[in-house]
Amino acid sequence: QRQQRIRNFSIVAHIDHGKSTLADRILELTDTVSKREMKDQLLDSMDLERERGITIKLNAVELHYRADDGQIYIFHLIDTPGHVDFSYEVSRSLAACEGAILVVDAAQGVEAQTVANVYLAIDDDLEIIPVINKIDLPSAQPEVVRQQIEDVIGIDAAGAVLASAKKGIGIKEILERIVHQVPAPDGDLEAPLKALIFDSIYDDYRGVVLSIRVVDGVVKPGDRIRLMNSQTEYEVTEVGVNSPKPLQRDYLMAGDVGYLTASIKDIKDTRVGDTVTSAVNPAANPLKGYREMNPMVFAGLYPTDNAKYNDLREALEKLKLNDAALEFEPETSQALGFGFRCGFLGLLHMDVVQERLEREFNMNLITTAPTVTYDVELAEGAHLKVANPSEMPDAARIKQINEPFVKATIMVPNDYVGAVMELCQRKRGKFITMNYLDDYRVNVIYQIPLAEIIYDFFDKLKSNTRGYASLDYELSASQPSDLVKIDILLNGEKIDALSFITHRQNAQQRGREITARLKAIIPRQNFEIPIQAAIGAKIIARTNIKAYRKDVTARIHTGDPDRRAKLLEKQKRGKKRMKAVGKVIVPQEAFMAVLKTD
Ligand code: GTP
Repeated sequence: QRQQRIRNFSIVAHIDHGKSTLADRILELTDTVSKREMKDQLLDSMDLERERGITIKLNAVELHYRADDGQIYIFHLIDTPGHVDFSYEVSRSLAACEGAILVVDAAQGVEAQTVANVYLAIDDDLEIIPVINKIDLPSAQPEVVRQQIEDVIGIDAAGAVLASAKKGIGIKEILERIVHQVPAPDGDLEAPLKALIFDSIYDDYRGVVLSIRVVDGVVKPGDRIRLMNSQTEYEVTEVGVNSPKPLQRDYLMAGDVGYLTASIKDIKDTRVGDTVTSAVNPAANPLKGYREMNPMVFAGLYPTDNAKYNDLREALEKLKLNDAALEFEPETSQALGFGFRCGFLGLLHMDVVQERLEREFNMNLITTAPTVTYDVELAEGAHLKVANPSEMPDAARIKQINEPFVKATIMVPNDYVGAVMELCQRKRGKFITMNYLDDYRVNVIYQIPLAEIIYDFFDKLKSNTRGYASLDYELSASQPSDLVKIDILLNGEKIDALSFITHRQNAQQRGREITARLKAIIPRQNFEIPIQAAIGAKIIARTNIKAYRKDVTARIHTGDPDRRAKLLEKQKRGKKRMKAVGKVIVPQEAFMAVLKTD
């Protein structure tokens, strides 16, 4: 029976422990891709993923494996990202699987996201196969790591596979484990169709392509289907699997992981987490679906060319299909015109969205500095949610501002505990507890304002611990803080898109830092530009950008032609992300200047 030979599994790990490399080896060993077509990190299909060497999107492929028992098994492997910003992708993949390979680096050991991701898998009742990877490294300590997996995660690691994804050691053993340890799916072929949508993407020719896990029943081209949440109906045009190229199939049945198209043109009809059922013989209840993701940080996205506003809306709608956690709503800025306030799961997510909009949709964008959502209690008692600093009411109207905090779990060798605590204190953290995971690793737990985490906390954490600390965090309750809004004035004009919120204690210093930074970033123009930072009507810092003294274009003309071409080219590139704000030309970096702290 075919269903008995299906195995659906995912690979979970901390970032850089070797998931994508292991996926490559598995694709090779199962001859899914020929040697000729093989390239590193094959499943990271976006250019952005390859350039940055990280996995951003989940990715599902079908493989065929001839096991030692002589049978051919059908594997569906779902590769997942490791970075905390993308953990929603991980949880979505896991819901389509019966098992998970847990990859732990033999030199780094268990890290914060190893724990976070494996707990997602344990919560979903998946069978966990621990793999200790990179045993080829001279610094590998497989036995220490084995013990850590037991002590820190609390699962039996006696049988953990020792592997090197790079050298191809232990791969066959992992595949055999999948056959014997991961249960076959148990869906009912005779029951009405029920399939979980775990991802989607917009294709200009085929419309929306849904990634589905069929839980019960069978689906084939020509079937009438219904999306249970949106109550819309379609006729299936194609079903298939990715291997990793799309391969059409006659049908997908309970237990299968694949794709489905049905000429769905209206993007709003499809939602990740929805259930596909039969329109003729519908299932009684939808599948459990997913927890809604709440964005943690917000920023304004504006086209550099105001005429591109509608293009940006369309691009955001299409991108949201492939990025369920992205949220957006229209907003206007006096300085930047019409744009969108977008919600993201973190800064890396924001960065990725901006890059994808520029690459995949040809947009040219200005993004404003990311901010968190503040809960503002007004003097008259009402509460206001403020996700855009320029919308912060006047101080006189405010009784109290509550800001979001996270519970940050920092895993670190004990030599660096002092450095970590010092950093957390500096970032307005409140110490919660600390516990030893084993003889030398410590879990340090703090409550820290989310606003401090999203800026440069992670970079500082890494540099203060020589890369040894790892971080995981989850949102906890908001807490009152003494915060103020700082406005920035250019040429005497308040620029709403440059306003930011900071702790009163740091206000003076931040005001000075930012005016100085803006002075360095904003190019000189043919008039003097005063830059001021203000709290309400009170100026707390000021500086000036001097006017040009000479005509610099004249100098360009006298140069040799090569140099002149280069200069012009450079100017053209530089111009790409500039925006005229009043009389002043402001480059993109200016809007991010508030992010950096010294
Ligand atoms: P994300 O997708 O970003 O979460 O990372 P990942 O877990 O997929 O890690 P990836 O496979 O990209 O590997 C990270 C780095 O470790 C790469 O430079 C790999 O070449 C290296 N690497 C992976 N497996 C091994 C191994 O077995 N031995 C050694 N020495 N290096 C390895």
